[in-house]
Amino acid sequence: MSILVVHGPNLNLLGEREPSVYGTLTLAQLNAQIVEYGRARDCRIRTYQSNHEGRLLDALQRARHWAAGIVINPGAYGHTSYALRDCIAGIRVPTVEVHLSDVEAREPFRRSSTIADVCIAKISGKGPQSYLEAIDLLLSSRANRTPVVIPSESHPRCHPERSAPPLSSRA
Ligand code: DQA
Repeated sequence: MSILVVHGPNLNLLGEREPSVYGTLTLAQLNAQIVEYGRARDCRIRTYQSNHEGRLLDALQRARHWAAGIVINPGAYGHTSYALRDCIAGIRVPTVEVHLSDVEAREPFRRSSTIADVCIAKISGKGPQSYLEAIDLLLSSRANRTPVVIPSESHPRCHPERSAPPLSSRA
């Protein structure tokens, strides 16, 4: 299985950015953990980080050609970006939203997510483990051949005939 792990704005500063909130691991160290976790589970993982909304959209759109799942830490774009939401809805690749910190327990603006309704799950507050649990979730959905219904497309009035293809139909 191939998975894209996306990190949004300011996550390139992990390790130096508010370590009491986000920990001391650098992005390179976090990515190494993630890739190794995938390798041990026979899962190919590519990682991508950008501070630019459009570049994140480009990476997500490209991933629809090869990824069977996406893990995204959208950073603050997850609180503000409808473009990101529409992109995830449009590419129809099962996507898990993750956050290192417990966004529910912080400032009120962090409680809202523009992408939650198009993701299959949201995992936050577990540090690097948030990403690893998201990978497990994607792997187990595939192993169980669970057809993943992408939330935005599950609305019967919008798409009575459509649900997402099973994870097993992608690489
Ligand atoms: C974050 C939480 C967001 O609110 C914040 O804007 C980030 C990081 C997290 O991983 O905890 O940049 O996504």
